[in-house]
Amino acid sequence: MAATVASVVSGYDRQSELKAFDQTKTGVKGLVDAGIRKIPPIFFHPRDTTPKISTAAVEIPVIDLQSTHRASMVEMIREASANLGIFQVVNHGIPVSVMEEVVQGVRRFHEQTDEVKKGFYTRDLSSTFVYNSNYDLYSSPALNWRDTFFSFMAPSPPPPDKLPEVCRDIQIEYSNQVMKLGGVLFRLFSEALGLNANHLGDLDCGKGLLFSGHYYPACPQPELTMGTSNHTDDGFLAVLLQDQIGGLQIRHQNQWIDVPPTPGALVINTGDLLQMMSNDKLTSVEHRVLANEKGPRVSVACFFGTHLTPSEKVYGPIKELLSDENPARYRETTVHDYSRYTVSKGLAAGATRLHHLKL
Ligand code: OGA
Ligand code: NI
Repeated sequence: MAATVASVVSGYDRQSELKAFDQTKTGVKGLVDAGIRKIPPIFFHPRDTTPKISTAAVEIPVIDLQSTHRASMVEMIREASANLGIFQVVNHGIPVSVMEEVVQGVRRFHEQTDEVKKGFYTRDLSSTFVYNSNYDLYSSPALNWRDTFFSFMAPSPPPPDKLPEVCRDIQIEYSNQVMKLGGVLFRLFSEALGLNANHLGDLDCGKGLLFSGHYYPACPQPELTMGTSNHTDDGFLAVLLQDQIGGLQIRHQNQWIDVPPTPGALVINTGDLLQMMSNDKLTSVEHRVLANEKGPRVSVACFFGTHLTPSEKVYGPIKELLSDENPARYRETTVHDYSRYTVSKGLAAGATRLHHLKL
């Protein structure tokens, strides 16, 4: 309320500014292309007082998926997911050429002519293909310096002609590869939880895939804003491919730790639903992306989950993991219901969204 009063007093009408920005249909990149040197106040974030420490102090493990020591690989995944909620994988089976090409494809989409791009711009999150800036634009207290496109690639891939010509082939190819990797990861996560290797797969955790292509333009005043606000991912598992610019951080023991770009590696993090199903054995890590004077930064985030797609299957803490000493900490939910809640709260609700399911 105080903010609303202040904006009226200063003559600054946030709502009209948001609307004007939305109506350009060219996102943050459009502002940068227009040559702005000062970022608009709708992007201002409050100063963050959480200290930052270097990765040297806390190392994000890099796990070799071709390792022949399966038991130690499973243990590394268990430990990383329990303590940090994140790790990187190498020898994951996705060719470097496909990784490079998908980053280029995302870049091509965002850098094509405004005229073509505007045709894809929508606020209807249920569209087959969505391109916009800040999906939570009207509910977010502070915008992110980032544009995004996304679409569901599984279980029902869109007809190719609904995807943009400049990136459709690689979007389909990369998604197919990530689906295969998902099969491998859900087996490993099942084992890390002490369950049969098929357990999470049999629960359809690897069935739905949301592909998002993020574009973080160079920012003239990076200290005033954020590339992506602190949040946890709401699905089961996320597979993130980041380019070489950097800026991804996790919050660990109330300090920000860099997740350094590692050539050839993919970043894997647990989402809210897997933390809930594991009854807190696994952590859905809070993370963010800093804005940067350098850019653009491109990342491809693939989320396992069906999100807002209507669903009836109910997920709750896995019975095999519960006991009298370890009773269920969460109530059951459908993916649809939980996603409706997280989308209504927006990214800025940060790590508090899972509290919604707490018993
Ligand atoms: C996300 C996310 C990080 C990145 O899309 O949820 O955290 O590096 N992205 O873009
Ligand atoms: Ni995320």
